[in-house]
Amino acid sequence: MGNFLAGRVIAVTGAGRGIGRAVALGAAAEGARVVVNDYGVSMDGGSPTSEIAESVVKEIAAAGGDAVAVADDISTMAGGQRVVDVALASYGRLDGVVCVAGILRERMLFNMTEEEWDPVIATHLKGTFTVFRAASAVMRQQRAGTLIGFTSGNHQGSVSQANYSAAKGGIISLVRSAALGLNKYGVTANAVAPVARTRMSANVPMELAEIGEPEDVAALVVYLLSEKAREQEITGQVYTIAGPKIAVWAQPRELRAAYASGGWTPETIAEFLPGSVGVDPMPMLARVAEMSRAAARGDRPNAQ
Ligand SMILES: NC(=O)c1ccc[n+]([C@@H]2O[C@H](COP(=O)([O-])OP(=O)(O)OC[C@H]3O[C@@H](n4cnc5c(N)ncnc54)[C@H](O)[C@@H]3O)[C@@H](O)[C@H]2O)c1
Repeated sequence: MGNFLAGRVIAVTGAGRGIGRAVALGAAAEGARVVVNDYGVSMDGGSPTSEIAESVVKEIAAAGGDAVAVADDISTMAGGQRVVDVALASYGRLDGVVCVAGILRERMLFNMTEEEWDPVIATHLKGTFTVFRAASAVMRQQRAGTLIGFTSGNHQGSVSQANYSAAKGGIISLVRSAALGLNKYGVTANAVAPVARTRMSANVPMELAEIGEPEDVAALVVYLLSEKAREQEITGQVYTIAGPKIAVWAQPRELRAAYASGGWTPETIAEFLPGSVGVDPMPMLARVAEMSRAAARGDRPNAQ
């Protein structure tokens, strides 16, 4: 065992499978006591079972670590609160939360139903809020803590997962808001956009040129949870990790501006906008066009 997280108490949602499981095992291996949350659902969010969270607790115990299971649904306020309450009741403190839980309900926007939209937003975006909300109240009192949300490269847009993309974009704004609002209390907040082999990524209908294992993602999360990242005052950041690659995303900023002297009209905007403010070309549009051409040739499209 390492000691990156010695003495820390870390709660991980979606910790029964895939990336969340690797994060829970990785944090325990670095000395953390871990709350393993997983609702134990299928990839579209159905058929919950408590066995999934329990099995990871057993794995951690078998490796000599200390963990406790919470099989609640984190898309409810009560579920998010319970994750935090169990950490406090079991271990007396809470140093970090990692919101990994997620589901997919893929459909083109023009066919998407409310039943496909709502649970995806509820699991990813609200499920990050419920845990951040309960944890930040504790961390504010402690004057220390780390919040980590899970986003995706898909926050740039997605052809057939508008619900997932919108939730992942929302998580970035939630993380940045937490970073801003909690900075003065010594609490940091960051987001991770992983690319790793799990049941979820197996669903992607294209070759991923850059992909790694859940353990690669766990290494980054352990670092972000550690004192070493806090010493560097890392907060409000979005990191991609894809196997050997780690990348930081830019902060959103205005690219170009133009000013009207006497207020804008549709006519003056039509005259000035194209040549002065213009557009910022969308890289994903070009990539999607290339993927369509590859598919038309009968090739399996390459995502990068
Ligand atoms: N795998 C990738 O390449 C990839 C890429 C981009 C983003 N992500 C994100 O990383 C995270 C983990 O993905 P994964 O690939 O490990 O998926 P996964 O399907 O292997 O694991 C997700 C886990 O979340 C649990 N879960 C679902 N709804 C829950 C709820 N309401 N309450 C508690 N637990 C719940 C599931 O039971 C499951 O065990 C997700 O947020 C996903 O969107 C993954």
